[in-house]
Amino acid sequence: MSTKRYTITTALIYANGPIHIGHLAGVHVPADIYARYLRAKGKDVHFIGGSDEHGVPITIKAKKEGITPQQVVDKYHNMLKSSFETFGISFDHYSRTTSKTHFETASAFFKKLYDDGKFIEETNEQLYDAEANQFLADRFVVGTCPKCGNEESYGDQCESCGTSHNATDLINPKSAITGNVPSLKKTKHWYLPLNEYESWLREWIVAGHKNDWKPNVLGQVKSWLDDGLRPRAVTRDLDWGIPVPLDGAEGKVLYVWFDAPIGYISASKEWAAEHQKDWEPYWKDEDTKLVHFIGKDNIVFHAIIFPAMLKAEGSFILPENVPANEFLNLEDDKISTSRNWAVWLHEYLEDFPDKQDVLRYVLTANAPESKDNNFTWKDYQARNNNELVAVFGNFINRVAVLTNKYYDGYVPAPRDFSDTDKDVLAAIKEFPGDIDKSINRYRFREGLNTFMNLARLGNKYLADEEPWKLIKTNPERVNTVMYIALQIATALSVLAEPFLPFTAKKLKVLLTNTDTKLTWDAIATVTELLPSGHKIIEKPSLLFTKIEDEAVQKQLDKLAAAKQANEAANKPIDPIKDTIIFDDFTKLDMRIGTILEAEKIAKTKKLLKLKVNIGLEERTIVSGIAESFSPEEIIGKRVTVLTNLAPRKLRGVESQGMILMTEKPDGKLAFVVPDDAVVQDGEEVS
Ligand code: MF3
Ligand code: ZN
Repeated sequence: MSTKRYTITTALIYANGPIHIGHLAGVHVPADIYARYLRAKGKDVHFIGGSDEHGVPITIKAKKEGITPQQVVDKYHNMLKSSFETFGISFDHYSRTTSKTHFETASAFFKKLYDDGKFIEETNEQLYDAEANQFLADRFVVGTCPKCGNEESYGDQCESCGTSHNATDLINPKSAITGNVPSLKKTKHWYLPLNEYESWLREWIVAGHKNDWKPNVLGQVKSWLDDGLRPRAVTRDLDWGIPVPLDGAEGKVLYVWFDAPIGYISASKEWAAEHQKDWEPYWKDEDTKLVHFIGKDNIVFHAIIFPAMLKAEGSFILPENVPANEFLNLEDDKISTSRNWAVWLHEYLEDFPDKQDVLRYVLTANAPESKDNNFTWKDYQARNNNELVAVFGNFINRVAVLTNKYYDGYVPAPRDFSDTDKDVLAAIKEFPGDIDKSINRYRFREGLNTFMNLARLGNKYLADEEPWKLIKTNPERVNTVMYIALQIATALSVLAEPFLPFTAKKLKVLLTNTDTKLTWDAIATVTELLPSGHKIIEKPSLLFTKIEDEAVQKQLDKLAAAKQANEAANKPIDPIKDTIIFDDFTKLDMRIGTILEAEKIAKTKKLLKLKVNIGLEERTIVSGIAESFSPEEIIGKRVTVLTNLAPRKLRGVESQGMILMTEKPDGKLAFVVPDDAVVQDGEEVS
């Protein structure tokens, strides 16, 4: 039986920073392909996303910037929303967890579980930072993960192995606020007894979904179930979040991972209210397929905790699938917000304002579907130039130009079909079904590759038939060739939609086929996709343009700068040396001087021979600064010279002093100089 309705969710994004290609590749692009594809198949699709606006990272960011958490989330919510719009992520609704509807929905959900006796209420000792006057949960505490030994695990989840745990499970916990070793303090919380759902989860997932969930998801879930589940607190002692809707729970809020997934339901409610629809079938009707698109660090929450919450509530359907992706690296290094190692979408758009589809294409072609994958700018350029421009774009351009040149833009009437023609016409019909198979198994890169095979087929057909030569010898044959090429172009315009929505639209405009009734499935059944006599537009613009080396270099330079800034920020500062007495200091004779001459000492890399005026006299000094300065650029520079250092010979030159230097973040040297140019040569430093 075919599914009636689809509810598709994307992991809500923490509203404490902009989004980068990792988010897009792992979650939003595959989800959008899936949603657009299902709409093209005529399904009832409900596609939602939103901003995750509670949780510790947001309060930490607010504290750092000296603003309120609300100001933080307001700023980033709008930025996230507009990035998604610009990249064509076709949400039916984009919500946020500080919305009124969400507060009500999450509170009511908690209250129902409470009233139905689904929680354990318990007062026990929790980690506490007395100096910060704060309980330490979630990202306020780091320690060693009890499962994998990662020393930087957070209180609620280890990012290294993905396991979710209680803060008190951490080995050697430390406060992330003060660095202190926490003390223990009693506090009351409500716990969801996950242990009671263990056998049900095992039945539902391991037995029920062993053939349709991705191996990376099943593997993790099995390992957690085998370790045994334990009760998890769903409330926190924090002042940012949704208040626990119970008497005697003042100062307590819902755990962010309790409220956030309920945000999906809140989003549906908001959407329904705005469109005079009923949200309930999308969450409660057994004919609805619920699919959560997430990154691998979210598996435990979407495959175990949220389903247990939904089961406890009792009236909701469960996710049909949780197609989690692995991570995308950037230029062989882990994407990191704090190290600024990322391609930020808003910055990408500044440099490539009309190339959203190119990024969607590259991220899909390289999607981290079954293992971590890597984005490189060279690969981005190569895929654009060699695939989108040289294959797809080139084919469409030839079709448009030749149809206009030979037939004033009218689709010609075909004559007799050759065997090749018949094969090509039959092959076109195979594509929708082949792509169906990939997308239904969440294999979007395979689906995209199949789609590109149709463009490759078109390109090859024209290259083999050479209508531009035939036109002189056999113009009748050209009618047929161009007719077939136009059929391929039309199929591409429909099948491109999920993957390359902006291009698909452009192509439909070019073919003046925008109001077509041509659906995905019709490609396989309709005999004539674009009829003879139909007119396409005269002056088509190119679908794709070449990306030059300079554009790529600019991106690589930007990353190099980020790496350098980061290394500089992390450069260890040498510890202070042993104490000396004042007499030791006065033994040093240091004076201000000016460099008069400079030349490289032959056959050395580092050494310059300088002549320096130190007021009383001129000194010859050999200095190891040639890797930081050229001789020409330092003539006339002011310097500080240690003048009573015993002379010594370097490469046959007697050096009569030493120039004081310090080091810049990039490793290059800088002179230590007086901050006032009026200081004269020979003045002492004391
Ligand atoms: N904000 C979380 C993250 O980025 C994801 C939340 S998904 C939801 O890791 F289900 F809780 F909404
Ligand atoms: Zn771990």
